Amino acid sequence: MADEQGFIVYVNKRAAAIIGTPSSELLGQDIRTALPLQESDGRSWWACTDPWKGLATRTGHREKLLIIPGRDEVLVTARYVRPGRSMPVTQVIVGLRDAEARRRAEANNSALISTIAHELRSPLTSVKGFSSTLLRRWDRFTDDQKRLMLQTIEADADRVTRLITELLDISRIDSGRLQVRKQPVDVTAAINRHIERFVASGYDRVRFDLSNGHDVALPEVWADPDRLDQILANLMENAVRHGAGTVSMSVVPIGREGDEAVAVTISDEGEGISPEQYPMIFTRFWHGRTRGGTGLGLYVVRGLVEAHGGTISVGRAAAGGAEFRFTLPAGTPEHVV
Ligand SMILES: Nc1ncnc2c1ncn2[C@@H]1O[C@H](COP(=O)(O)OP(=O)(O)OP(=O)(O)O)[C@@H](O)[C@H]1O
Ligand SMILES: [Mg+2]
Repeated sequence: MADEQGFIVYVNKRAAAIIGTPSSELLGQDIRTALPLQESDGRSWWACTDPWKGLATRTGHREKLLIIPGRDEVLVTARYVRPGRSMPVTQVIVGLRDAEARRRAEANNSALISTIAHELRSPLTSVKGFSSTLLRRWDRFTDDQKRLMLQTIEADADRVTRLITELLDISRIDSGRLQVRKQPVDVTAAINRHIERFVASGYDRVRFDLSNGHDVALPEVWADPDRLDQILANLMENAVRHGAGTVSMSVVPIGREGDEAVAVTISDEGEGISPEQYPMIFTRFWHGRTRGGTGLGLYVVRGLVEAHGGTISVGRAAAGGAEFRFTLPAGTPEHVV
């Protein structure tokens, strides 16, 4: 544990053993020199993710495999303690996990690679199959048949592109390098735009219901408009695709003065999600019975919401379906990236 200037104020026995220095020597040292963590490409981790100078809404870091030069790899998590939202860091708590770490990270990596390969292969198999067939037997098909095959090729190519975009986002989320360009956004207007998009692509307008849209005064929210669109698109698409009935949305102000936020809920009237699956749905590649998805959507959504300093949760809607609720802190951030 380091204080507001980065000096070590507490070390437990295991941490001292992993670092390889007695705790009596570590106390009072600058954590950045006592624990010179490096990324796998040799860059200083502290320089990349300065907890004291970085984004003031950051609350810490997910587990990451890093290197202590001259020693082993370690899995590192970090938590930044602030007395209030957007206040300077008063404590940085770093968690270290050793030895096992490498093996587990490698096992994770190879599982991830095989899932990605699998997800990429099925659309590409169809692209390859249909284009070969068309090239070899062009004259044997009617125009309608050819059009159908080309449409399938196009849809599968889109799927591969989307998958790759999501994978790139995931790698940014996991490494804490997701860029969030905040500016004032109108959340209600953004939801309305998405409703229009769904209607334009053939959905019935009555399937969407945005309440509290006009009458409640909302605090000003700063967010990255493109990322907010990504969050809304994913959650609304899930509600339409995995849920059923009317998709109800609301935007309401929450929190007290000085710590205000808006909460956005998106619920549907489908079968919902059983509570034992709540922890799973936000993980990578987890998906239910409904076909077509890769299971990356909610993982990306959670990463995006958290990168804004918000939280996301899932529950049961009054109408029976799934209800997703995320928050976005209001107010001007000190650090506009
Ligand atoms: N509104 C909902 N109603 C019922 N189940 C849902 C709902 N939203 C998500 N789920 C379940 O959670 C799973 C994970 O959702 P997620 O968005 O991460 O992946 P996906 O929609 O399957 O794929 P992707 O979003 O990557 O195309 C879904 O496969 C589905 O089983
Ligand atoms: Mg989805």
